[in-house]
Amino acid sequence: MDINKIRAIIARMTLEEKAGLCSGADFWHTKAVERLGIPATMVSDGPHGLRKQDEAADHLGMNDSIEAVCFPAGCATAASFDRNLIRRMGEAIGDSCQHEKLSVVLGPAVNIKRSPLCGRNFEYLSEDPYLAGEMSAAFIQGVQSRNVGTSIKHFAANNQEHRRMSSSSDMDERTLREIYLPAFETAVKKAQPWTVMCSYNRVNGVYASENRWLLTDVLRNEWGFEGYVMSDWGAVADRVKGVHAGLDLEMPASGGVNDAKIVKAVREGRLDEKDVDLACERILNIVYRYAENAKPETPWDKEAQHDLSARIAAECMVLLKNDGNLLPLDKSDAVAFIGEFAVLPRFQGGGSSHIHCFKKTGAMQAAEGLNVKYAQGYDVAADIATDAMIAEAVELARAAKVAVVFAGLPDAYESEGYDRTHMRIPDCQTRVIEAVAAANPNTVVVLYNGAPVEMPWILKVGAVLEAYLGGQAVGLATVRVLYGDANPSGHLAETFPLRLQDTPCYLYYGGEGNTAEYREGVFVGYRYYDKREMDVLFPFGHGLSYTTFEYSNLRLSANHMKDDEALTVTVTAKNTGRRVGKTVAQLYVRAGAGEIIRPVRELRGFEKVKLKPGEEKEITFTLDRRAFAYWSMALHDWHVETGDYTVEIGQSSRSIDVSAPVRVESTVQVPVRYDENSIFMDIMKDPQAAQALKPLTDALSAVFRPNADEDSPAAEAISNEMTAAMLNYLPLRGMLSFAGDQLPAGVLEQILERLNG
Ligand code: BGC
Repeated sequence: MDINKIRAIIARMTLEEKAGLCSGADFWHTKAVERLGIPATMVSDGPHGLRKQDEAADHLGMNDSIEAVCFPAGCATAASFDRNLIRRMGEAIGDSCQHEKLSVVLGPAVNIKRSPLCGRNFEYLSEDPYLAGEMSAAFIQGVQSRNVGTSIKHFAANNQEHRRMSSSSDMDERTLREIYLPAFETAVKKAQPWTVMCSYNRVNGVYASENRWLLTDVLRNEWGFEGYVMSDWGAVADRVKGVHAGLDLEMPASGGVNDAKIVKAVREGRLDEKDVDLACERILNIVYRYAENAKPETPWDKEAQHDLSARIAAECMVLLKNDGNLLPLDKSDAVAFIGEFAVLPRFQGGGSSHIHCFKKTGAMQAAEGLNVKYAQGYDVAADIATDAMIAEAVELARAAKVAVVFAGLPDAYESEGYDRTHMRIPDCQTRVIEAVAAANPNTVVVLYNGAPVEMPWILKVGAVLEAYLGGQAVGLATVRVLYGDANPSGHLAETFPLRLQDTPCYLYYGGEGNTAEYREGVFVGYRYYDKREMDVLFPFGHGLSYTTFEYSNLRLSANHMKDDEALTVTVTAKNTGRRVGKTVAQLYVRAGAGEIIRPVRELRGFEKVKLKPGEEKEITFTLDRRAFAYWSMALHDWHVETGDYTVEIGQSSRSIDVSAPVRVESTVQVPVRYDENSIFMDIMKDPQAAQALKPLTDALSAVFRPNADEDSPAAEAISNEMTAAMLNYLPLRGMLSFAGDQLPAGVLEQILERLNG
């Protein structure tokens, strides 16, 4: 609807009606105003399918919802590194929303995986902000192409479930800008989500739901967000502050309590009515965007979506290990499927994203007609593996050519609402894996889990397939990948550390009381492990295939550029194996030595391409200023340090195939003000400033003359080096005092005037 028409409607609303529109009518609906013909609209979770509740409503996934299709969760889809695939999934979800008369689906969930312990990591995408941003933008584009909105969540810095409604995520500006905000920023700039959901937590002490800097200055004024902001369910603390901050819609309903507070604040002059009008304008804009484009006649073919879900899941699976090409299996092989997850796979996480599936396919069911036998191995509900179960598994494994153990995390191990306390799979499953691997050297482990686990048995098994929480058709996808009907092409969107103690925020994750300090700063995930040169179980970006790929012929459009120019990067990818497969070209930028403490490398581009055996394709990337930039706390802006950078292309963050250097020159003059505490080496960096120092350096060189008694050249060199080192760190005032009485009075003032002039 035209914005002027919306404004005309708002002009006819009473203050009470306007305040009322700023909170939900119930758990899932916006309010209707019948007098003015304003319709109610419905929203629903999200993110990887619909949790539309018709009857008793709740936000924790406890009560029933309609039968729907559960697609792979964020942990899996991010690993596809495939924008088109996730866009296709978004389109399917958009269609189902149209069919079900839903105006907004509550997702994508893009919070950064700061620690593998976060209970909601299964819903989130990555430890890397670039990947999370690109994938979420593609999802949003997919859903919104169907004229249904998305709600990117949880804005912002919601990286733990522990004390999620009261904790403050405290970090410096650079960490927030480089790690925790960019996924939202990219999504807003590239895909303009209809809505944003603010998080429960506080950010640097201020609740996200009343954080004007976050919801207005950054989200709207800087990034250009045009939709409405809704609260996470129950995230509102002070509603009046929230309206002023830019929180348009409070969800769910507040029973009228907060609406009345808004009215009172306006009447008492504590809140500008214009702020309320603006919130209504943003809400109505989206309400009508959906209402005017509603297409409830859109078909929802659940069977077709089940197949789509299987195809997507197969693209997401990550082949972590495959010694001696144990996989793929041959269809005539005698194979043992061991573990209850082979029949009842875990394919989604608990909480608000929990979907009531119309159908589920486990691997045993999908393997019908193949030479596969089954042993339960362990009991998920009882969390045990009896001796008899293990003996049965071992016997089956011995008789088979290959044993496939299905393992992972049971529901209770990871969920919305609480964090994990360790990274282990259940002990009973570990015992089964070890017993089976001892009985049959050809043991494969398939993992169903939403976050990294420790693998103490990794050296004892031949292959590991990380299938993540792959949605309701995960069994179909697993069998296709195991037997080579699909060639695995997923890559880890997160590092698998060797042990929990290795993780970057191990010492302070969860925080003290309601304060969670993000002391590791920008060193999250591979940014940390690479800088520390630590061994990891599997690095970020890792993923094998049944074929092999090679990269060559890396070319940059320039080897010297200004930071406002674009750099074109071209590389050739080749399938050097014998099967059709997909490779992910991962582009990292490495900053050379500069003043700023930076990660070794950062992901700045990726492309997934399909190649036939022997086939080659050229892949092109365009890098802009942001690819080289860090967030300057001095400038409060992105800044590129002049210096040498390396563009790297690889198949994981720890396996770089080709690289090329480029020198980037900053076009931004960083303003410097010198004072008596400025040190010599900083001043000497600027040739003009160095000139101004001449009177002082002349006087000092007389004082710091190499010792005349030392006549050996070596002694002289040492002495010069010491002098230089001492000089380097001298502040201006120190230089003056060392120069003694050689300089006239007032010289410091004169020098400073020249330096700053
Ligand atoms: C979750 C959101 C969800 C909402 C509605 C909250 O508990 O944090 O992600 O969209 O409930 O179910």
